[in-house]
Amino acid sequence: MDEMVKMAVDDLGNAVNVAALTGAGISVESGIPPFRGKGGLWEKIDPMEFAHIDTFMRDPVKVWNVLLKDMKEIISKAKPNAAHLGLVKLEKMNKLKTIITQNVDGLHQMAGNTDVIEFHGNFAWQKCMKCGNRLETCKVDLSLIPPKCQCGGIFRPDCVFFGEMIPPDYLERSQKAAERCDVMLVIGTSAVVHPASCMPVIAKENGAKIIEINPERTPLTGRVSDYLVRGNAGEIMSNILSGMGTK
Ligand code: APR
Repeated sequence: MDEMVKMAVDDLGNAVNVAALTGAGISVESGIPPFRGKGGLWEKIDPMEFAHIDTFMRDPVKVWNVLLKDMKEIISKAKPNAAHLGLVKLEKMNKLKTIITQNVDGLHQMAGNTDVIEFHGNFAWQKCMKCGNRLETCKVDLSLIPPKCQCGGIFRPDCVFFGEMIPPDYLERSQKAAERCDVMLVIGTSAVVHPASCMPVIAKENGAKIIEINPERTPLTGRVSDYLVRGNAGEIMSNILSGMGTK
């Protein structure tokens, strides 16, 4: 067994309260491209232009056409992969208590995890900007862009755009999860977007071991994280779980 996988097996075996911070990388093997790095969405479009609330308010047609239409298409087809399923097994073993995810794809809940904090909201629902009515994204008619509510207001995803605040309740619950865990798994995040990237720092300051799973190094590597298990999340999680005696 790979030395790093073995360390993770031992640390998770001894842990009683595991938290996970996940990012776009955990969903790559489900067919959802990441934001940064090779093949990343932000290589093609500028997030500060297309994922900023000011742009959406100024030009919702542009943001729906360039970003949100494709997101709806890609997310609607995605299914949980071995990494998501591995986190469900860790929860069933009574190890994993909370997932803090930056993803808006809903795959952790679809896989079966029960305590998932969707730090950046979720794409499963749209909200009318005029009357506040909510509609499931799969039921939103995209034949006219931007999609509109019966009241004539424009729909926006229930996600946190750049320039918007993280809902205070999510932030508080995430901080608490980070404070009380004894191991934090940091899976598939470039750890460059605040305040999500602060959660491993909070966990570390409170004595937790930080295990990163990522094919690449991140700003946490060698500084905040105790070690990096290098590779794709699905394969690494499967290896860890089988090392823990779970198939
Ligand atoms: N398994 C694990 N990690 C992977 C895989 C994989 N198969 N493929 C890529 N990665 C890693 C990359 O090396 C990178 O470190 O996943 C990370 C993806 O980073 P980002 O695309 O920056 O995703 P994330 O950290 O979730 O971004 C944070 O930025 O634009 C925003 O709101 C968006 O929530 C998002 C936030």
